[in-house]
Amino acid sequence: MTEHVIVQDAGHVRTIRMNRPEKKNALTLAMYDAMTIALTDANVNESVRCVLIAGVPGAFSAGNDIQDFLAATSGPAGLSRPAQGFLPAIVQCAKPLVAAVSGVAVGVGTTMLLHCDYVVAGSDARLATPFVALGLVPEAASSLIAPRLMGHRRAFELLVMGHPLDAAQARDVGIVNVVVAPEDVDAVALKSAQEIAALPPAAVAAARRLMRAPMEEVVSRLDEEGRVFGERLQSAEARAAFETFLARKR
Ligand code: COA
Repeated sequence: MTEHVIVQDAGHVRTIRMNRPEKKNALTLAMYDAMTIALTDANVNESVRCVLIAGVPGAFSAGNDIQDFLAATSGPAGLSRPAQGFLPAIVQCAKPLVAAVSGVAVGVGTTMLLHCDYVVAGSDARLATPFVALGLVPEAASSLIAPRLMGHRRAFELLVMGHPLDAAQARDVGIVNVVVAPEDVDAVALKSAQEIAALPPAAVAAARRLMRAPMEEVVSRLDEEGRVFGERLQSAEARAAFETFLARKR
């Protein structure tokens, strides 16, 4: 277990908090594992009716730890994708998901939001998916869900060109429900999670299943993206981009 993820149950709400502020909540393998366990356990834990995913002030998540990406470039193709367990777990989470987004949400920090049911963002939120600039491809089934949500051109601008979205833009394209003051993000998100948890849980689960894209389609896109992502991780383009990021302050 890692101290970089804090899991707390209060009433019927489970909060999974990414807590590595010194690295802007860049996600390590241990953090993915802890989050995966907390999500899969929520599926079978009847007292958990809603899961809240949160970060720290100023950082929801800076995405995958680039040091881990670099390590994966020398692993066997397609086998060393760091988020391998986490992505299916969040995609297939049976409980409603609420996110509390303050500050940076990069890479998987943005794409995981596409699987959340209600997203609260601080006015300081900044969403970005620089996958292609890093020599990679979009993941978390974002290549399927984002174009459906916002249309091909806006999804292309986000996922391929890597243009960031501020909080209001993220709300306008349908990723975020509500924008609040940064200091209110956690409280508003918790209140929303409690509101969802107070509804009849079986009806919530049934409605949610009906509303979401067919799971087979999403899982199959996850697999396809994973295959290409694994190949891209081995590329000279990706390795050079990771090294540039890691060298920038040396
Ligand atoms: N992987 C590894 N370390 C990361 C990281 C990541 N994804 N994101 C941030 N960090 C580290 C920085 O290297 C820095 O470490 P240091 O203090 O030891 O030098 C620390 O976290 C703070 O980051 P910093 O860049 O100083 O903060 P900032 O507020 O200026 O910028 C970001 C924040 C998130 C915009 C910037 O760090 C960034 O672009 N990170 C990379 C995001 C990314 O490409 N993720 C992968 C997406 S697929």
